[in-house]
Amino acid sequence: MNQAPIDRTGAWQRLMEHAEEMRGAHLSQLFVDQARGSAFTRRAAGLTLDLSKQRWSDATLSLLLDLAREAGVPEGIQALLSGAHVNVSEDRPALHTALRLPPEASLLVEGEDVVPGVHATLDRMATMVERLHARQWRGATGRPIHDVVNLGVGGSDLGPLMVTHALADYRPADAHHVAVHFASTMDGSQLADYLTRFNPETTLFVISSKSFTTIDTLSNARTARDWLMARLVEDGKDVDEAMVMRQHFVGVSAKPEKMSEWGIAEVNQLLFWEWVGGRYSLWGAIGLPIALVIGMANFRELLAGAHAMDEHFAQAPLADNLPVLLALAGIWNVNFLDIRAHSILPYDGRLEHFAAYLEQLEMESNGKSATHDGRQVGYSTCPVLWGQLGPNAQHAFYQLLHQGTQPVVCDFIAPLTRYDDVEDAATRDHLMAQHRLTLANCFAQSRLLMLGDDAIDEPGERPGHKRYRGNQPSTTLLLDRLTPATLGALIALYEHKVFVQATIWGINPFDQWGVELGKQIAGETERILAERDGLDRMDASSRALIEAVWRAEQEGER
Ligand code: F6P
Repeated sequence: MNQAPIDRTGAWQRLMEHAEEMRGAHLSQLFVDQARGSAFTRRAAGLTLDLSKQRWSDATLSLLLDLAREAGVPEGIQALLSGAHVNVSEDRPALHTALRLPPEASLLVEGEDVVPGVHATLDRMATMVERLHARQWRGATGRPIHDVVNLGVGGSDLGPLMVTHALADYRPADAHHVAVHFASTMDGSQLADYLTRFNPETTLFVISSKSFTTIDTLSNARTARDWLMARLVEDGKDVDEAMVMRQHFVGVSAKPEKMSEWGIAEVNQLLFWEWVGGRYSLWGAIGLPIALVIGMANFRELLAGAHAMDEHFAQAPLADNLPVLLALAGIWNVNFLDIRAHSILPYDGRLEHFAAYLEQLEMESNGKSATHDGRQVGYSTCPVLWGQLGPNAQHAFYQLLHQGTQPVVCDFIAPLTRYDDVEDAATRDHLMAQHRLTLANCFAQSRLLMLGDDAIDEPGERPGHKRYRGNQPSTTLLLDRLTPATLGALIALYEHKVFVQATIWGINPFDQWGVELGKQIAGETERILAERDGLDRMDASSRALIEAVWRAEQEGER
């Protein structure tokens, strides 16, 4: 791919000129147009996307759509969905969308239909889930498994963690026998806690790692294996190591040979493919913890919702295409209004882990500065993205959003309906009132961020510390209700947004070379720390830090 840098195109230049005109505009003036709300709102797959509080106009959007066409977004979408090698640096497709194709579909990749393999894996997951829910999966001593601990990090943790939390209400009755937990940190913090509380006889570990080389996950896995062996084999419970491996470990990876080498029994290996990126992988075997919590039928609903968004992405005209519009709003903010901070603010406690999930999805995908042909970009790419539950963030960092010096764009996310199915009438009324209160806060905050002082009618001048300048842009995303299907659509919306932005910026959203060198240097540092040798290769700061550890160790030994 050797096209002109995007910032040299006519569309980009026209947007630069247009941005000069728009820079002085305040959102409160733009809202003089009463039709603005509906003009910038679109719906698809159970989601409503309101982009009217973006600091843009019809003319802006039209120029951005020109930019998308000039960058080849329609061709990019087609290439992504058809299995072309869009992951250029690793020369392979990025086919997470294939994981949610219905069984009757077909998709040829290098001459082979990948859909039957996808559904064969789903069927194997279903069998495991059924066995665990039916209390038929027994530990080495014959007791049914009660606790399942997912050992994984990054894409092998954040997606399943986020979705299991978001959809915990969808737990089917038979899933209550199994409790699902997550341990990701390399320091063993979460795992150490589990090992003090769980019974080894009834605990199963799922080792989730696409590469099966990630040190964080493998260190946790080794600790878990030794714990089980010490408690079950060495304690004389009449079980052998092979039984423990077979009854207490499942592996999920794209590397079957590495799983076998580690000791995972072949029947307990769930596979996925190199063409599924780690942070795009919750839709298949990596989603096993999700299926364990919500059941396989709801898991398939999650896939169906994502597939509905894929279909919309493939077919809707650019001007009505939710992922494209969301991406263009981001491009406008970062590249033309110079807004480089982006906050994700769900107004629903079930989406507690959504911001952390998006941090990886967006920043690991698009936190890049080299184009496909190796040039350094001359423009900004992914903004700094962070977030928290909106109502809690109101009591934490909204001060900065309202009165700080940084322009920040916010995504407000909320379900329209909640709690209407609570059985007890009095509790239902209370909870529905709490939901209304939460929506009121969500809408009030985006309005205040937009209008500033103009949001209230208060006569007279106010001192500087009580003034709100407003004009902070935001997006509001409403889910009809939070269900497996709408959550699937929401996640797919952001996945595709990331792809559209990467296409415009000319970068590869599917690799992550920026994290590799750190792993190598950490390995070297660990060797120096352990062997107490090689310090002379270190800089003065690192030397002092390492020496502090050695001193602490010596004091501990005394
Ligand atoms: O180091 C970054 C990364 O490779 C992520 O891209 C990935 O999601 C995570 O580590 C875990 O990788 P794996 O699933 O191979 O253990």
